[in-house]
Amino acid sequence: MYVVTGATGQLGRLVVEGLLAQVPASEVAVAVRSAEKAADLAARGVAVRVVDYDKPETLAGAFAEGDRVLLISGSEVGRRIPQHRAVVEAAKAAGVALLAYTSIPGAATFRLADEHKATEELILASGLPHAFLRNGWYTENYLGDAAGTVARGVVLGSAGDGRVATAPRRDYADAAVAVLVGEGHEGRVYELSGDAAWSLPELAAELAKASGKPVGHRDVTPAEHLDALVGAGLPQGFAEALVDVDAGIARGELAGTPGDLARLIGRPTVPLAESVRTALDA
Ligand SMILES: NC(=O)c1ccc[n+]([C@@H]2O[C@H](COP(=O)([O-])OP(=O)(O)OC[C@H]3O[C@@H](n4cnc5c(N)ncnc54)[C@H](OP(=O)(O)O)[C@@H]3O)[C@@H](O)[C@H]2O)c1
Repeated sequence: MYVVTGATGQLGRLVVEGLLAQVPASEVAVAVRSAEKAADLAARGVAVRVVDYDKPETLAGAFAEGDRVLLISGSEVGRRIPQHRAVVEAAKAAGVALLAYTSIPGAATFRLADEHKATEELILASGLPHAFLRNGWYTENYLGDAAGTVARGVVLGSAGDGRVATAPRRDYADAAVAVLVGEGHEGRVYELSGDAAWSLPELAAELAKASGKPVGHRDVTPAEHLDALVGAGLPQGFAEALVDVDAGIARGELAGTPGDLARLIGRPTVPLAESVRTALDA
């Protein structure tokens, strides 16, 4: 079986769709914390295994010998090391054939990277056949409120003109599918990113071009950036993490374009301009 955790999340749903396009539903299982959220998948013949990363006992029956598993990293920052440890231990106990993990680029030194690096260590120590999908940033991180950004006329950040090589979730999902259904990925580390890196001034220019409205870039200090994010309603801890990421982007830590993602998916990654048009059309 191909087993996907976090399959009711945004990346996981795309992975499952990609799998279902290539293998019969009877070979696909999802390990999710809400059976209700996965009801549509169950109706299509996908096996639904209910698990919670926080409850190791729920993971005991989640995997079987020979399964090819994608562990999609959890979304609860600060809790992910014990959560991921529970998944790795369950996968080890079951004897899965492959454990692929959605990690973070190897160059990242900002705080959000810590739990991913610790998880890679846990997987290496388990001795399981594994593949690290070191996902770069999603283009969607910048376009969730593209219309609002255009209306305000400003892209704000503290990354200066640091560059970030994003790709949309669908590209990363296709890469995960390629690794799950393909051969020879055991022990491999993929540095996944968009084909081209861009800066926040360039994002502002793309938004202006696609909308026909003036959009500028304003670089602010980390303290001002934090105030703006908290003022916009983000929780303090999450806002601090995002400001810390911008410092990493300024250092060039998410700018790598080694081409691993395009090679895995067998096509170029979706360019920023196309994602901007899609977001503004939505
Ligand atoms: N590369 C990037 O730019 C970027 C950006 C943001 C996040 N990420 C990382 O990539 C992951 C996938 O991204 P995404 O956009 O798909 O995030 P997402 O939509 O928030 O999905 C996260 C998934 O993890 C599941 N999950 C969280 N805690 C769990 C637990 N205790 N037990 C079982 N499942 C749990 C969620 O389950 P429910 O569906 O039940 O909520 C959800 O399905 C994120 O979780 C995060 O680690 C990467």
